[in-house]
Amino acid sequence: MAGKVVAILGATGVVGTQMMRVLEERDFPVRELVCLASARSVGKELAFRGERVVVREARPDAFEGVDIVLGAAGDAQAQELLPEAVRRGAVCVDNSHAFRLRKDVPLVIPEINAADIANHPAGIIANPNCATIIGLMPVWPLHLRAQLKRLVVSTYQAASGAGKPGLDELEREVRAHVDGREVGATDPFAYPLAFNLIPQIGGFDEEGYSSEEMKLQNEGRKIMHLPELRVSCTCVRVPIVRSHSESITMEFERPISPDEARQILSGAAGVKLVDDPARLRYPMPLEASGQDLVFVGRIRRDLSAPEGASALVLFCAGDQIRKGAATNAVQIAEHLL
Ligand SMILES: NC(=O)c1ccc[n+]([C@@H]2O[C@H](COP(=O)([O-])OP(=O)(O)OC[C@H]3O[C@@H](n4cnc5c(N)ncnc54)[C@H](OP(=O)(O)O)[C@@H]3O)[C@@H](O)[C@H]2O)c1
Repeated sequence: MAGKVVAILGATGVVGTQMMRVLEERDFPVRELVCLASARSVGKELAFRGERVVVREARPDAFEGVDIVLGAAGDAQAQELLPEAVRRGAVCVDNSHAFRLRKDVPLVIPEINAADIANHPAGIIANPNCATIIGLMPVWPLHLRAQLKRLVVSTYQAASGAGKPGLDELEREVRAHVDGREVGATDPFAYPLAFNLIPQIGGFDEEGYSSEEMKLQNEGRKIMHLPELRVSCTCVRVPIVRSHSESITMEFERPISPDEARQILSGAAGVKLVDDPARLRYPMPLEASGQDLVFVGRIRRDLSAPEGASALVLFCAGDQIRKGAATNAVQIAEHLL
């Protein structure tokens, strides 16, 4: 029979729901869709291609007969359940952090390292961290021209990056503020996010970097095959609904001018050049939302670079639920067909 049996682990969440839309839009050959979530969601109905799919509990036997699993649950569920799916013959594309740095698991942004997909001895291919995907999309084509040495990144990450609980919490806080009630803060944020920002995503290490910040270094090195790349990153949660933005300073081995960078990025796969500040055109999360392209602009020389050094600054914005998660995962799955 034509088509694949596809399971989404975490189908009721922000990423899982988006995966269904992306499978529809890209006409992925799905023979049957299996929607899996926690016991709390059993019996819920989700729409796929105009039909209702009833959510089942994610248990090992739910993966019988499944060809491809798209993982959109947390690290613990991925760690427990994806090996069970592989044992039953499935190949998994996982969005959690659980497998990303394992040597036997490729970590892939198809526009950068699609060739790595072929070698997946553990039956699992990992989707990178969303801020890493959004940031590397414009950096990679410039690296190909000028050889990247060093990255300094500041992120502005949307509430939905913390999943449905993050989205619901921002909405609750904004409503409370508008209604004149006390905003307060509850999970998943440690402080009120509405009309605030929080310079912490994940726990801190002994150097003072958060786990989200170190993902950009460690995952970036693996994806671009640049094990020595120097990265310093500051990740900040901001009170917007959707799409992550990043300010990126890049130092290169070889000369590259802002004009050359614009010319390269205007033809690069997966990015959209939006760089006409005089006409108030630059990347913004509102415009990037709902798109698969990462918007890039504000390209300029790094004025702080030492004399003779080659360094540029840019700003980018991309929909972290689409290209940062669901679309990237479906693109990887397309390579498995
Ligand atoms: N949000 C983003 O922007 C983003 C971007 C890139 C990667 N990711 C990663 O993608 C994954 C999903 O994130 P999300 O934002 O979609 O989170 P989410 O909205 O909180 O959804 C989590 C999903 O996991 C399911 N789940 C929770 N506990 C489970 C259990 N014990 N067994 C089976 N399923 C369980 C939930 O089902 P119930 O509804 O039944 O609880 C829900 O479907 C995470 O690993 C996240 O780090 C997220």
